[in-house]
Amino acid sequence: MHLKPVALAAALAPFAAALDVQVASSGGNKTSYHQYGFLHEDINNSGDGGIYAELIVNRAFQSSELYPVSLNGYHSLHGARLSIQNLSQPLSAALDSSMRVAAGNGSNRAGFENEGYWGMNVECQKYTGSFWVRGAYDGSFTASLQSNLTDDVFGSVEVPSQAVADDWVEHTFTLTPDRDAPNSNNTFAITFNPEGTENGYLDFNLISLFPPTYKDRPNGLRVDLAQVLEAYHPTVFRFPGGNMLEGNTNETYWDWKKTLGPLRERPGFPGVWGYMQTNGLGLMEYLELAEDINNMTIVVGVWAGLSLNGDITPRNDLQPFIDDALNEIEFIRGPADSPWGSRRAELGHPEPFNLQYVEVGNEDWLAGAPEGWNSYKEYRFPMFMQAINDAYPDIQVIASGATSDNYTFPAPAIGDYHPYREPDALVEEFNRFDNDLGHIVGEVSATFPNNGSKFDGPLFDFPAWIGAVGSAVSMIGYERNADRIPGTFYAPILRNMNRWQWAVTMIQHAADPALTTRSVSWYIWEALAASPISHTLPANEQFGPVFYVAGRDENRDDALVWKGACYNISSNDIYNSTYRANSTRVPVTVHFDGVESGTEATLTMVTNPGGDPYAMVDPLEGNKVVSTTETSITANADGVFEFYMTELSLAVLDTGVNKRVAGAPYSPIGKKDHDWKPRMAGKPPGYRPAV
Ligand SMILES: *[C@@H]1O[C@H](CO)[C@@H](O)[C@H](O)[C@H]1NC(C)=O
Ligand SMILES: *[C@@H]1O[C@H](CO)[C@@H](O)[C@H](O)[C@H]1NC(C)=O
Ligand SMILES: *[C@@H]1O[C@H](CO)[C@@H](O)[C@H](O)[C@H]1NC(C)=O
Ligand SMILES: *[C@@H]1O[C@H](CO)[C@@H](O)[C@H](O)[C@H]1NC(C)=O
Ligand SMILES: *[C@@H]1O[C@H](CO)[C@@H](O)[C@H](O)[C@H]1NC(C)=O
Ligand SMILES: *[C@@H]1O[C@H](CO)[C@@H](O)[C@H](O)[C@H]1NC(C)=O
Ligand SMILES: *[C@@H]1O[C@H](CO)[C@@H](O)[C@H](O)[C@H]1NC(C)=O
Ligand SMILES: *[C@@H]1O[C@H](CO)[C@@H](O)[C@H](O)[C@H]1NC(C)=O
Ligand SMILES: *[C@@H]1O[C@H](CO)[C@@H](O)[C@H](O)[C@H]1NC(C)=O
Ligand SMILES: *[C@@H]1O[C@H](CO)[C@@H](O)[C@H](O)[C@H]1NC(C)=O
Ligand SMILES: *[C@@H]1O[C@H](CO)[C@@H](O)[C@H](O)[C@H]1NC(C)=O
Ligand SMILES: *[C@@H]1O[C@H](CO)[C@@H](O)[C@H](O)[C@H]1NC(C)=O
Repeated sequence: MHLKPVALAAALAPFAAALDVQVASSGGNKTSYHQYGFLHEDINNSGDGGIYAELIVNRAFQSSELYPVSLNGYHSLHGARLSIQNLSQPLSAALDSSMRVAAGNGSNRAGFENEGYWGMNVECQKYTGSFWVRGAYDGSFTASLQSNLTDDVFGSVEVPSQAVADDWVEHTFTLTPDRDAPNSNNTFAITFNPEGTENGYLDFNLISLFPPTYKDRPNGLRVDLAQVLEAYHPTVFRFPGGNMLEGNTNETYWDWKKTLGPLRERPGFPGVWGYMQTNGLGLMEYLELAEDINNMTIVVGVWAGLSLNGDITPRNDLQPFIDDALNEIEFIRGPADSPWGSRRAELGHPEPFNLQYVEVGNEDWLAGAPEGWNSYKEYRFPMFMQAINDAYPDIQVIASGATSDNYTFPAPAIGDYHPYREPDALVEEFNRFDNDLGHIVGEVSATFPNNGSKFDGPLFDFPAWIGAVGSAVSMIGYERNADRIPGTFYAPILRNMNRWQWAVTMIQHAADPALTTRSVSWYIWEALAASPISHTLPANEQFGPVFYVAGRDENRDDALVWKGACYNISSNDIYNSTYRANSTRVPVTVHFDGVESGTEATLTMVTNPGGDPYAMVDPLEGNKVVSTTETSITANADGVFEFYMTELSLAVLDTGVNKRVAGAPYSPIGKKDHDWKPRMAGKPPGYRPAV
């Protein structure tokens, strides 16, 4: 493929010439209409302890060869002795270890507390809990939410025992604290009276506690995190990865079948990010997440015979995995009377989910190279694609690499491109897809500073403004080619501030919802996604320092849209405010064919008034970086819209009235937008301040 290099030098010119854009009224291409979304996998507690709302850590003592069974997260109360037991009668085949709680020093209470995922948020709201007990007990349990720092108990409930000697019995309860805890350093406790037991002990398993969940789904999502995602208008969702799909070995990949059904039937998954995953956020939960958040279009990844240790499935052994992928597709979109569709119906969703995209594997060019990649090109991808297209001709099959990974994937496949780049590199790639086959951009973010250190240097501590604008340039490039680039996915999307590796996530969180923070990238993606286009429109091409796309939206009375990112900066002058104030402002005029004088449009400007290109949103301070303004502007006597763009900024001009609503609900507590103060005293462990 021949790619014309974009002259980045032009973007760095100190004196920006005026930009005059002429947009034709016809002659563009249809888009997928679901351009902006995200990838989610359970990377370092962005699933368990992240968007999955379960509060109890290590709730079912799940283990694997890699992650031994433990009592992590539990502490004894009243001197009780806690131990792991593998009973001859386990709770289930999937959950074979449990916790024995034995009376300690003769007090008439015994019990345990669980410290959650780095604490628990406790508010006056209804918590829904359950636990399983084995062993006869005449009495009641006390379940409480309490402080880990003081003697405060915020709420507690008596749960009458139904426990019997020789069987596991589930106990359910609800618990509504009578006041909010002042911080998230809290625990959940269960106690009982050992004198009422037959043997002085009881066995516990699958101890679960949920706050209210997003759209009230049982086993659902954390409300604040789902709302922050929803509010940037994502319309396409890639899952389950990512490395999580591949697994560490070909015996421990993410097997969708083990993630279905009642929690007691889910064994958990030896995750690839350093911890045992519960599988509570399973295939069904991911599908419901997609449906609940804007009914997003799904891109599901199927396991394709390569795991992270380089295990490769030989050609002759591949068919069972192809069949497994076809079963998974049937589970997702087959009719309710098909074998796997009926399983889905049994689990409460008789209507098929809307699945149009299936990706075969993940980054198959990376693990086990070069044999892994060669086997992918030689037989793994062609065999999967053939089988999927034969069974589902309307499904778009996606190969897990790009043309730039030296693979000309066979038609009708499209590829997957993962640019983790410096800001400048994302600008240089503006025309990456002007002359190429179709791809999704399955993972993108600006990861490194512009100093060439790349993967050898540190990542940004948080997404930086210059990176967010640099990626806007790339994304506008993708949208210009939206006839062949049907979706762009932010990755990694969520980061638990207590445990993380990749810092450039769009959203940061901890147990305390007051710490849920939108990064600078969130604001850029929100503005781009708020004005969808169903068709691109041809425009003159005068790219640099402003990079732009024009289009119309047939779903909004042919609203006309222009999106431009201004990347006009000299690294020598970034801290010189005099230079910035005058030398880098770009006068822009946009004329859409047929638009008359007096036509109104909304101009959304996303800027960084403070000017520091490396500015980042600090979770402990909230957004003091990004300003999003919407103004109404009117076409002049010649039917032209006129405005200025500042050095690193995004502008979206839209003549439609029904944009996706900007800043729709983003959190249950309205105070978090500007100048909020976190409720947690001190900094979360592992926290590093922004530089
Ligand atoms: C039992 O042990 C716990 C913790 O070791 C202690 O707090 C409690 O006072 C003890 N109770 C009795 C009755 O000794
Ligand atoms: C219980 O079973 C797990 C595996 O399920 C094993 O790793 C662990 O060693 C066993 N523990 C005991 C005490 O036998
Ligand atoms: C809770 O408080 C304890 C004691 O001060 C501290 O060690 C721990 O890090 C705190 N945990 C969180 C999540 O803030
Ligand atoms: C609770 O406090 C203890 C020490 O007082 C600490 O070890 C533990 O990590 C705390 N729990 C949480 C969730 O911070
Ligand atoms: C989601 O979108 C699909 C495709 O447009 C549509 O068929 C389906 O009814 C929608 N589902 C919901 C719950 O809105
Ligand atoms: C698993 O990987 C090994 C190579 O490490 C290979 O010999 C074996 O055939 C693979 N099995 C499957 C089912 O993919
Ligand atoms: C693709 O080919 C080029 C040129 O031969 C080489 O430099 C590059 O490393 C190859 N990339 C991959 C992913 O194989
Ligand atoms: C690049 O910048 C980072 C962050 O400021 C720094 O840690 C790193 O050493 C720099 N690398 C080079 C090659 O200058
Ligand atoms: C996950 O988080 C842990 C704890 O912060 C960190 O040590 C580890 O490097 C991370 N692992 C990966 C693969 O991101
Ligand atoms: C429409 O697509 C064709 C083929 O990909 C391309 O040559 C043309 O420039 C596109 N038009 C617009 C307005 O993007
Ligand atoms: C910008 O230029 C104008 C005149 O063109 C001048 O009056 C003004 O002081 C300049 N602003 C700065 C910050 O230098
Ligand atoms: C800042 O920029 C202005 C305008 O380009 C220039 O005249 C001035 O010398 C610069 N100041 C410094 C300290 O570089």
